[in-house]
Amino acid sequence: MMYFKNNISKILSTGALAAWALTVSAQNPERYAPTAVPDRIVLNVTADPSTSMAVNWRTSEAATESFAEIAVAEADPRFVSKAKKLKAKTEKLVWEDTPTAHYHSVIFENLQPGTKYAYRVGGEAGWSEWIHFTTAGTRADRLSFIYYGDVQVNISSMWSRVAREAYAKAPDARLAIYAGDLINKANRDVEWGDWFRGGGFIHSMIPAFPTPGNHDHFETPEGINTTSVFWRPQFTLPENGPKGLEETCYYADVQGVRFISLNSDQVEVSEHWAQAQRQWLEGILKNNPNPWTVVTFHHPIFSPKTTRDNQRMRETFKPLFDKYKVDLVLQGHDHTYARGMANIPMAEKGAQSGTMYVVSVSGPKMTDSNVEKAAWMDRSAIYTQLFHVVNVEGGKLSFDTYTATGALFDAFDLIKQPGKINRMEERMQGNAATEFPAEIVKFKAHNGNPLFKGTADSNTWDEKIRERGYILREGGKYYMWYTGYTKATGDSMKYLGLATSDDGLTWKRHPKNPIHKRLWVEDMCVVKDGSTYYMFAESKDDIAHLLTSTDRIHWKDRGAIDIRLKNGSPISKGPFGTPTVWKEKGIWYLFYERNDAAVWLATSKDLQKWTNVQDEPVLDAGPEKYDAFAVAFNKIIQYKGLYYAYYHASAYKDWREWTMNVAVSKDLIHWKKYEGNPIVGNDSSSGFPVFDGKQYRFYTMHPDVRVYFPEK
Ligand SMILES: [Fe+2]
Ligand SMILES: [Fe+2]
Repeated sequence: MMYFKNNISKILSTGALAAWALTVSAQNPERYAPTAVPDRIVLNVTADPSTSMAVNWRTSEAATESFAEIAVAEADPRFVSKAKKLKAKTEKLVWEDTPTAHYHSVIFENLQPGTKYAYRVGGEAGWSEWIHFTTAGTRADRLSFIYYGDVQVNISSMWSRVAREAYAKAPDARLAIYAGDLINKANRDVEWGDWFRGGGFIHSMIPAFPTPGNHDHFETPEGINTTSVFWRPQFTLPENGPKGLEETCYYADVQGVRFISLNSDQVEVSEHWAQAQRQWLEGILKNNPNPWTVVTFHHPIFSPKTTRDNQRMRETFKPLFDKYKVDLVLQGHDHTYARGMANIPMAEKGAQSGTMYVVSVSGPKMTDSNVEKAAWMDRSAIYTQLFHVVNVEGGKLSFDTYTATGALFDAFDLIKQPGKINRMEERMQGNAATEFPAEIVKFKAHNGNPLFKGTADSNTWDEKIRERGYILREGGKYYMWYTGYTKATGDSMKYLGLATSDDGLTWKRHPKNPIHKRLWVEDMCVVKDGSTYYMFAESKDDIAHLLTSTDRIHWKDRGAIDIRLKNGSPISKGPFGTPTVWKEKGIWYLFYERNDAAVWLATSKDLQKWTNVQDEPVLDAGPEKYDAFAVAFNKIIQYKGLYYAYYHASAYKDWREWTMNVAVSKDLIHWKKYEGNPIVGNDSSSGFPVFDGKQYRFYTMHPDVRVYFPEK
């Protein structure tokens, strides 16, 4: 590990990423010019999508009228002869330099529940393909739906992959909720073009349930905050909300779930719209025949960003969510992931929230500034594009959070309890309990800490100590190697010292200290193999060296460690450090970090040449906040058949504070981080467990030596 070294490049590269994600494709009004053939086909949720469904599409002005045809879908292609033809409602949209277009819509009515239909839209100039959708079923059927946080930017290039993964995971979803900021600039046609292109045919198959965000709003020259001019022409949403907020504040009942969209942007700008929606919401919550209630809007009740606080949203609506036991609140706006229920602040002392609050992001615009893991969050992540698949069946709602690569990231169930708030069950912690046994992840600090530190005397060689010293226990005795330096000479030399102890608590410095004077030695890992001690340590400029000894005191420098890429060529120039070594079946495994950005693994049979197992890291920083900006392994142990890597990490760009963490692996290559990370805070780093004959105790080595014992 390095403190405050090479930080500039890290900050620059992070800054560059954020700027890149914010890039919005340049406006090109020609790019999505309408033609006589339909495009931008989108299915919309109606108030009751078991018997009706709405569809919208766009053409050029050349199509003066347009039609939709619908039939029950059959494998026999002759089903088309049974299709019913409906004339569309057509609306002309003229807006600034946007190519003038016709927006068409049809509401299919009197449909059969739980039935697959085929429809197409168009007319003389051309028709769409026949497209399938399935109407909602009954309350007894399992309901699946998708939830997306902000889509917003780089929609065509980088949100599209999320939509496709979501469709692959939940092709039978009965609706897709968009929690606002569908695009970046409310009235830019090219961005809506990107939104339709990014979602492709999926928009025409899974009904949309969008709620508008601040970016879907604009201010008129008269200073009135208004939803995008595209919103109402291109969507056909239920008009059952308060007058004046039609199609932005609305609800739909689907298979026993009441889905409600609130227009939070209007709440943010006016108390009038806040009260209008509050009143309306209370009415539809009070008279709700559905067992489940899901509310979506853009501005979160609890903001992951510490610089944001949507007080009016919280004060207006949270009392209703509490009173009427709203099950799930789906939000956006903060471009990060957080969800919480167990520790939601409540007005009444001792009360427990029955509502799960989720903030998410699906597009590539990310934020990491002013995001802290707050007390209300059960789980959080930054720099991760996500989507969510929710399944509701009877009294159980299962919420699955997937990353843009389709990996399950978070999962919980909400279970209905008669007369009580829902019981929340973490589904991923179930594994954590067996994969991360308490005795090796839950530690409490010893009262006598710190056990060992620098002398603070500038006349001694170890005025200060730093980074990872290393402790071995042999024959009931503890040996600790550590790095000492003085304020005056520390930049040119760091010395190696030894201390011993009978109990691992009271330490005695070796009389011959410093025991090695030729080589700068710090951040070491010592492995005993046969009768030889192998010390892997950082030397000057963060180049790792190997030293060997047979008596623990006299060490011979074996030179810099030679690490090769998989193809045999040397790894790129630059520092590599915090060497952490494991030996098994004749193979040496070396974990190393580069700028603390990630951890790589190389192996060797002869300790001469090391070759990367893979050129990609085996452990990356993030996506959760606690290890977002630095990671480095300190020790590997094997426990009950699994490998555990204890690693330190920083949640801060400037590495101002460190924590200790743990990850588990079956093969030393694939690592899974512990959900309960960090396991030790207090800016303690370079830590690792040491078996004391009875149990694992945990030492942290920087900035001084402290010990922790198992909690139980
Ligand atoms: Fe946003
Ligand atoms: Fe927003």
